[in-house]
Amino acid sequence: MTIWPVVPAAGIGSRMQADRPKQYLPLGQSTLMDCTLDVLLSYPAVEKLVLVLAEQDPWWPSSRYFGDDRILVATGGAERCDSVLNGLAALHGLAGESDWVLVHDVARPCLRHADLDRLLNGLAWPGAILASPTRDTMKRGEVNSRGEVVIAHTVDRDQLWHALTPQVFSLGLLREALQRALATGKKVTDEASAVEMLGLQPLLIAGRADNIKVTRPEDLALAELFLQGD
Ligand code: C5P
Repeated sequence: MTIWPVVPAAGIGSRMQADRPKQYLPLGQSTLMDCTLDVLLSYPAVEKLVLVLAEQDPWWPSSRYFGDDRILVATGGAERCDSVLNGLAALHGLAGESDWVLVHDVARPCLRHADLDRLLNGLAWPGAILASPTRDTMKRGEVNSRGEVVIAHTVDRDQLWHALTPQVFSLGLLREALQRALATGKKVTDEASAVEMLGLQPLLIAGRADNIKVTRPEDLALAELFLQGD
């Protein structure tokens, strides 16, 4: 089975407050982006992948993978789902409509092959995502008349999961889902939400909780620690 990873990496990562997009920050002896590409490109079912970069990206030539012919570069869009759609377009002529596309955030460098095995084993329509069960007690917040955020109520966490990536769908289904979701104007923060809008129910596959998305400065140290545990 051939898997086509699409790696959205066109965000600016403003919450990192860094001098460069977060994917180019150092991580161990490498960078966040190169660590993520290491995991995907060393997975046996992956031959090539699509990397979606910002239109103006002066950092990309500094990557170890710059010029690697296993990487097809696509240009990102305004939102994550625009970027993913552009990534899918780069597969035109290479991948078939029923081929599996695996979307993985560039900002999740701690993905393990064992998690990929679990996700891809027995993969079936309409697709699946890695997720981790919520461990914390969850509160819904609301703003009161003084502008303070207060607890509206406690949400039952028993059926709540954190949606992680990778998320895997067939090329044809994912393209249709993202195009339709974009047309509705609703906010789509992952691929599964677009597929859900079609009335479909992707599988939740329990993945490791250390597959974190590096978002804030303190996450980098955590990711480094998790990678040292290998
Ligand atoms: O901003 P956030 O961390 O949620 O972004 C998730 C992923 O989507 C990141 O890998 C980021 O680079 C990517 N992204 C993108 N195009 C955008 C916005 C985000 O490729 N317009």
